[in-house]
Amino acid sequence: MTSSTGITVQAEVADDVAAIHSLTAQAFENVPYSDQREPLIVDALRDQQALTLSLVAHAGDERVGHIAFSPVTLSDGASGWFGLGPVSVLPSRQGEGIGSELVLAGLEQLKARGAQGCVLLGDPNWYKRFGFVATPLVRLPGVPAEYFQALLLSGEWPDADVHYHPAFNA
Ligand SMILES: CC(C)(COP(=O)(O)OP(=O)(O)OC[C@H]1O[C@@H](n2cnc3c(N)ncnc32)[C@H](O)[C@@H]1OP(=O)(O)O)[C@@H](O)C(=O)NCCC(=O)NCCS
Repeated sequence: MTSSTGITVQAEVADDVAAIHSLTAQAFENVPYSDQREPLIVDALRDQQALTLSLVAHAGDERVGHIAFSPVTLSDGASGWFGLGPVSVLPSRQGEGIGSELVLAGLEQLKARGAQGCVLLGDPNWYKRFGFVATPLVRLPGVPAEYFQALLLSGEWPDADVHYHPAFNA
């Protein structure tokens, strides 16, 4: 679907793989808190069949953004939870609303699949606009609580530690 920004968000196809790797590397190249493993993580999630959603933002012929969602494990046994990220927008196209469109499109698709919730590690100032909150009920061990955020999509809050897919150790 094409939005008011002229961006089309589509599910990844085989032809997108190299462009996703490249745009993810470019987006994180100068991010100080990144260890620049994000393109490898996306590749590993794909190789391990753990890319639940992989959405690409197209502007004409150019791929300008990407977002990944993958399954996470909760210590209380709750199912239907997913991790958001990495999310990347080409540096030259940041601040135009593309990242927001990718997050919103992904959350809508997760809801349509009956997901219970979504978690992420990121800047609370950006993600609170989508309803993400830091809550003591959903924890990522070893990480400052304010940077780990969750969004309940359906049902009740769990009370659990979260573990990302092993591909995040790529
Ligand atoms: C983070 C990112 C995906 C956002 O995409 P985007 O298309 O630039 O974002 P949008 O245009 O939809 O939103 C812009 C808004 O987010 C804010 N914003 C963008 N990146 C931010 C960040 N890292 N932290 C806090 N706020 C941020 C902008 O200041 C702007 O705020 P405003 O709407 O109040 O003016 C993109 O900037 C990016 O690829 N960054 C490098 C990789 C990265 O840090 N990924 C996220 C890891 S958590």
